[in-house]
Amino acid sequence: MIHIINRISSTNAWLSSYFTDIGDIAIAREQIRGKGRGNRVWESSLGGLYFSIISSSHLLLPFIIGISVIQALAGLENRLRLKWPNDIILDGKKVGGILCEDDGKHAVAGIGINLNNTPSFPESTNLASIGYDMDEYRFLESFFMVFRENLQRSNKDIISRFRDYDCLLGRDIYWDGVTGIAKSINSDGSLEVLSDDKLVNLYSEDVHLE
Ligand code: BTN
Repeated sequence: MIHIINRISSTNAWLSSYFTDIGDIAIAREQIRGKGRGNRVWESSLGGLYFSIISSSHLLLPFIIGISVIQALAGLENRLRLKWPNDIILDGKKVGGILCEDDGKHAVAGIGINLNNTPSFPESTNLASIGYDMDEYRFLESFFMVFRENLQRSNKDIISRFRDYDCLLGRDIYWDGVTGIAKSINSDGSLEVLSDDKLVNLYSEDVHLE
């Protein structure tokens, strides 16, 4: 079932409490306490797109969502990138984020995209800044279609598609005061980094480009 709500705390939180079936969707025009990664708040004023979907658990769900968002944003493939594990980047700035919360049986995948809203962080942007006028319903229709297709793909195929859009591999990065070079994405979705002559795997750290 698709629930369209004007104002809500968080589509992820609401859907986690009230979903009945896999595939249930919540879309909000505004969120009062939008949830971001690492317990951060996701700014969710009017003008942005905020939605969540219930999915079966999948190790690579954030990647599947990220690839699907890019495919559904028709015409922007060359300007959009994915930053491991789940940031959507437009011309080098963050335009959207993905939050997947998994209880082991189901996952709720939430997507926030800045359209006409203006996020307060200088490293963020919105689609209006490049004159992209998104038809939200056309986007959602296209997103859910490609999402279902991408869910059927093998893990190898998903990672290969993610790499096509990745913006970290081969670049100098840092996280938690440590620096390294992003080398590869492993089959479990972790990021392999060469740091201090050693290969380390990152699982959910916030990484930044140097
Ligand atoms: C991030 O920190 O980058 C992830 C942001 C995810 C935000 C979306 S907006 C829709 C859904 N509901 C939430 O409360 N959060 C996600």
